[in-house]
Amino acid sequence: MGSETLSAVLEREHREIDEGIEVFAAGLTQGGRDTAPLKRALEGLRRHIYLEEEFLFPPLREAGLMAPVFVMLREHGELWRTMDRLEAEAAEGTGADEVRRLCDELLGMLDRHNSKEEPILYPQADAVLAPEAADRLHRFIASGRTPDGWVCQGVRP
Ligand SMILES: [Fe+2]
Ligand SMILES: [Fe+2]
Repeated sequence: MGSETLSAVLEREHREIDEGIEVFAAGLTQGGRDTAPLKRALEGLRRHIYLEEEFLFPPLREAGLMAPVFVMLREHGELWRTMDRLEAEAAEGTGADEVRRLCDELLGMLDRHNSKEEPILYPQADAVLAPEAADRLHRFIASGRTPDGWVCQGVRP
């Protein structure tokens, strides 16, 4: 697969997701409500969480990073619930101020999450994933889809 490291590809996903939410929030400020950038960003974030929980975290846990993975899983649950709320409120015609507040809340949570994931977890991904596991993850990032009905561990009953 390509020469880019997993950490570089995953960090780019972080930025693209942030940008989608920011574009939607900026549109709200200007009185619009084009939800397409938000839909794309949330779909991207759910897929990003899926690939981390299914392909990335298990080998990191095996490499001994139990505690950081545990924190990331808990935060994914919080992100997931906030995404559900934001999606519902953006669709229902809730006041723009409230929707923008939720966008800011989600961006703040992402910032805190990613600022741990990027320096602590992702360098280990480059170091410990076997070549086959890294290839599988690269292939999923290129063209994979979140399975229908999948939800992150943090919101499962
Ligand atoms: Fe994550
Ligand atoms: Fe991530």
